Order: sequence, then structure tokens, then C-alpha cells
Amino acid sequence: MTQSNAVPGKFISFEGIDGAGKSTHIGFVAEFLASRGKTVVASREPGGTGVGEKLRDLLLHEQMDLETEALLMFASRREHIAQVIAPGLARGDWVLSDRFTDASFAYQGGGRGLDRAKLEALENWVHPHLQPDLTLLFDVPLDVARARLDATRTLDKFEQEQADFFSACRNEYLRRAAQFPDRIVVVDSTRSIEETRAFLAEVLGKLVA
Ligand code: TYD
Repeated sequence: MTQSNAVPGKFISFEGIDGAGKSTHIGFVAEFLASRGKTVVASREPGGTGVGEKLRDLLLHEQMDLETEALLMFASRREHIAQVIAPGLARGDWVLSDRFTDASFAYQGGGRGLDRAKLEALENWVHPHLQPDLTLLFDVPLDVARARLDATRTLDKFEQEQADFFSACRNEYLRRAAQFPDRIVVVDSTRSIEETRAFLAEVLGKLVA
């Protein structure tokens, strides 16, 4: 992909609305890369560090002011970059993050309506020079995502939101995919797991080469 972080490792983020299926595929990507001799670090946001996991617990279960929510997402991210992402990339590892800054634009921006300029200011503060080398955006229609969520788990604060919230999140994700076509690859996640894996192997094969 076109981003060139000035470090030896590679950074891949996984995105999509809740229920889109990204979690199903992260393990496959980790195994694929390991089979090609890469050292993989798999992590997540919010979370991924001791402080970040405490913030995740607050973020997923407590109601709070929208700006507090955005600031805590970026606080978790700052810690994640400092403790996990930057050191991993400096070692030459492949860092996989279950969500990164696109999620803040999609959820706090698209879903909740926070001014995009504020999110851009936070992004420029917290990681002015770091972007994923590749972002895999798992995309499905809302009804498919909702059916998957209802079938699999107890819902957290975000997952309890209504269809118009997820529709706005999905639209913002797709808008960003159009804005950053060299970084964000949209994965049609309505297909079978096998078909999606084949597509992922093709995309990753280019990055590994
Ligand atoms: P998710 O990644 O879906 O984890 P799980 O599969 O364990 O439920 O949950 C994280 C939630 O946090 C998800 O609903 C999206 C939300 N989120 C934001 O609203 N903004 C952000 O910046 C990030 C990273 C996540």
C-alpha cells in the first residue's frame, strides 16, 4: 500500500460496524502472516494495554458526554501507540489492530455526530505521522450485522444502538474508504468465510511480497 511509515514493520487495522465479521478474520490474517515468516502482534482498541483495557471497560459500559468518549478513545490510542504499536513496528513486527482511528470517525463522528474537525485535531495530536499500511474494512448491510450480533453475544453500549446509528457509522466508513482508496480495502463480508479468506489472502499476498 502507499503509506510509508518510517519503520521496518507493517501496521494493519481491522474495521467495520459491530457484527460485520472482522473478529472472525483477524485470526486468519495472523496465521497467514505467520505462515509467511512474519512476527505478528495482535491487539485491539479501545484497549491493548493495561491502561487501555481499563478505559475500554469504561467506554463500553458507561454513559458519558460525547467529547469525553472521543477523548478517552484517543487516550487509549495514545497509550496503545506508545506501548504496543510503535515498539512493534520498530522491531519489524506486523502489528494487527482490531480497530484504530477510522472507528472514531465512524462511531463518534458518523454515528454520534461529533464534528469531524475535532476528530482530525485529535488525530493530528495523537498520531500526526502514523497511519496503517493497510486497513481492512469489513462491510455488510445493517440487517446482516444485526442478525450476527443478536446470534452471538450480550450487547455492549455501542452494540445496543439502533439502526440509524449503525447506518451513519457505515456511511462514514465507506466515505473514508473512498477518501483513502490506497489504504482502505473494502471487504464484502456477506460472502462465505472461505470466500472472504481467499480475498484476504490475495490482498495480503501483495503486501507481503
Ligand atoms: P469491538 O471492536 O466491536 O469489540 P468486540 O468485538 O469485542 O465487541 O468493540 C469496540 C466498540 O468500541 C465498538 O462498538 C466500536 C467502539 N469504538 C468507538 O466507538 N470508537 C473508537 O475509536 C473505537 C476504537 C471503538
